[in-house]
Amino acid sequence: MVHYKVSAPGKIILHGEHSVVYGKDALVSAIGLRTNLEIKETDSEVIFIDFPSLKFQLEIPLIKVNEFLVNSDGTIENVKDFVENQFKRSNETENNTLVALFYVLKKAFGNEKVSKAFDLSVKTDLRIGGGSGSSAAFGVSIATGFLLLTGKMKENTLDHEMISNLAFESERVIHLNPSGVDNTICTYGGLLKFAKGKGFSKLTIPKQLNILIVDTGVSRSTAKLVSQVRDLHEGFPILFDNIFESMNILVQEAIKKYSEFNGDITDIEKLFEINSGLLTTIGVSHPSLEEIYKISRKNNFSSKLTGAGGGGYAIVILPSDYKNKENFENLISELNEAGFETTETVIGGG
Ligand code: PMV
Repeated sequence: MVHYKVSAPGKIILHGEHSVVYGKDALVSAIGLRTNLEIKETDSEVIFIDFPSLKFQLEIPLIKVNEFLVNSDGTIENVKDFVENQFKRSNETENNTLVALFYVLKKAFGNEKVSKAFDLSVKTDLRIGGGSGSSAAFGVSIATGFLLLTGKMKENTLDHEMISNLAFESERVIHLNPSGVDNTICTYGGLLKFAKGKGFSKLTIPKQLNILIVDTGVSRSTAKLVSQVRDLHEGFPILFDNIFESMNILVQEAIKKYSEFNGDITDIEKLFEINSGLLTTIGVSHPSLEEIYKISRKNNFSSKLTGAGGGGYAIVILPSDYKNKENFENLISELNEAGFETTETVIGGG
């Protein structure tokens, strides 16, 4: 019987969040925190779905899923109605997760029926709604799992483009109008330069670069923050076009600095500070993020938000020898005392 285990990494946007929505370049990296999916065919009549990270489980008869696959017109609206009638979840995250799941299932299977029931479990190390790619890593995992289940793709010949495109559909359910940066990085991994509609290129950093991820613990909606920025852009188009263009120039400078990185983070720290200021200017900071910036600066570190902002995660750039530094110990203890969880990760070589 078919049994697959797949996983996808989370991501951080190093530079270029928000401006990427307006066609500018972004610099993004995969991180060590992952989402793991397991899918196992069973002899049951019931499909069992387990989301331990969201703390919910549910069952649905195979026959109902096959009726849905045969009868649905495959539009998001239609899948929403199906999920609403079938599961009646009032929690928005749970509901969106289920809509994305069945939407991707429908896209993968078309009008074909699922031949056997299965147990599906999706677990993640990422905080949901934090800005570290939890929804994209979810999309990539379910896209891969369902494409394997259909037999359209084999485990030893994964079709990354197909996976990323299908994961983008999942992102469309959750984020309405995503740039595609998250599903791309969570599919391909590594470090990428990405531009909406223009694709991506892989980049390498000569030396390992250390980053601290700081969780504000504040959940926020990417869709709402993107629409808040859109409103400001509509009100002040020339001003905002110029800010987005500045962010784009910053990304080009960053690519140079990261590509030549020799262990000295001084210039990258300056770019972190400037990028952070530009993001505050477009209104996507948050008191919790400001607190992290303050604690970082006090200990001689530079930080910025990553992702949509409004809470979520911040990142702090760390020097190669950070472990031996007293100010790093102070940074961690002050961040933790203020209620922020921290995770060390690396990007680039090493
Ligand atoms: O916070 P996240 O991981 O959802 O990232 C959002 C990035 C934005 O540039 C703000 C939106 C997008 O679609 O690229």
